[in-house]
Amino acid sequence: MIDVLLGLQWGDEGKGKIADFLTPQYDIVARFQGGPNAGHSLHFNNKKFVLNTIPSGIFRENCINLIGNGVVADPERLKKEIENIADEGIDIKNNLLISKKTHLILPTHRILDAANEKSKGDKKIGSTLRGIGPTYMDKTGRNGLRMGDILSHDFNTKYNELVQKHLKLIQNLSYSDFNLEESEKPFFEALDFLRTFKLIDSEYYINNELKKGKKILAEGAQGSLLDIDFGSYPFVTSSNTTAGGVCTGLGVSPRSIDKVIGIFKAYCTRVGSGPFPTELNDELGEQIRKNGMEFGATTGRPRRTGWLDLPALNYSVMINGVTELIMMKSDVLSGLENVKICNSYKTSEGISDLLPFDIADKHIEPIYQSYKGWQQDLSKINSYEDLPQEFKNYCNLISEQTNCKLSIISVGPDREETIYRE
Ligand code: GDP
Ligand code: IMO
Ligand code: MG
Repeated sequence: MIDVLLGLQWGDEGKGKIADFLTPQYDIVARFQGGPNAGHSLHFNNKKFVLNTIPSGIFRENCINLIGNGVVADPERLKKEIENIADEGIDIKNNLLISKKTHLILPTHRILDAANEKSKGDKKIGSTLRGIGPTYMDKTGRNGLRMGDILSHDFNTKYNELVQKHLKLIQNLSYSDFNLEESEKPFFEALDFLRTFKLIDSEYYINNELKKGKKILAEGAQGSLLDIDFGSYPFVTSSNTTAGGVCTGLGVSPRSIDKVIGIFKAYCTRVGSGPFPTELNDELGEQIRKNGMEFGATTGRPRRTGWLDLPALNYSVMINGVTELIMMKSDVLSGLENVKICNSYKTSEGISDLLPFDIADKHIEPIYQSYKGWQQDLSKINSYEDLPQEFKNYCNLISEQTNCKLSIISVGPDREETIYRE
């Protein structure tokens, strides 16, 4: 069976930490969408790693890690990531599989990303500039190049044809701040490097493994509120980050999916532009950013912070069919006199607990309920019973309000700082 692990907010919920924590229960960890816009942090044995494209099971022995067809991969970044992991003595040549249908991010996709963002001015998405949007556009526009193409003798011709198209688009956007030749050298070196890896027909592989009874964890990237269909459009990423993306991003049937594990932070963060109803633009927001070290794992940008948003969380639970929840970064709220949860939104049309279609344009006033905070440092606690009652109340409330089991609580970045609740 396949269990799915995905973020329920705007990304950076802690998917990497939990995927790594849960991996001993699985034979295979697979990424099904997104690309190096993701930054998944793992902490163990006093070391920290950030993974962009490689699944978070890579540090566990005997775990196969699959980059699925739904992913977009940047060869140069992927090469660097592989080299860093190989330096740790990991047998990455055997433990990493890449779908032949994974789409390639070309240097010109990155340039197009920058050119598009620049042309949007104030309305920019705040993209990670990793070329994600333009690569998915070429995929749906049926122009893209895939990992399997690098094995073909006419790859260079196809590459040059696509680059010519891109250069016209870049010119139309009056963008000239780039040096293509400089980026092409490491790109072609990375292709040579990747040709020595296991590039496979991953849909056959994964379905065969399922038949053999293997357990698979599908690791999401980004978060549900950045989903191309259900996120706060247009301030979203370009893939289906929600559970539906697993079937198309790996080539598996919905019937093969068992658990859908949804991860959320005890508060909210967002990096990049777009609506954020519960955002705290004050000292408290700054304090949460500082305590939670809320700076992007990929771009280093400060993350916007705010209170937990129940209408948004419930929306994500609904879209994904979440079967259990994991709450992250509970330790960050320690020491606050009161903590707040947004239960509903007030707009010009009244009060509602549903996400409005035009969330990106509407003025939303969050309606909060305030609760007594907890004062203890949670990161030193290792059993649910020992957690402060105020914090347990917070957990019970979220579980009740989402109608979902809250199974794990994370109280620090390390693998060890994780508590089973149910
Ligand atoms: P991902 O993209 O969902 O994998 O999340 P990121 O790695 O981008 O961001 C999560 C950040 O929070 C990372 O720096 C993690 O090391 C850190 N983190 C994860 N869980 C916890 C936790 O429970 N408490 C604290 N304080 N930090 C955490
Ligand atoms: P992980 O997997 C947080 C955001 C960007 C931007 C928008 C579009 O680490 O949770 P893109 O580069 O995809 O065109 O950017 O989406 N974004 C993320 N925010 N975590 C991520 O990944 C993100 N990936 C993209 O900041 O607002
Ligand atoms: Mg991240």
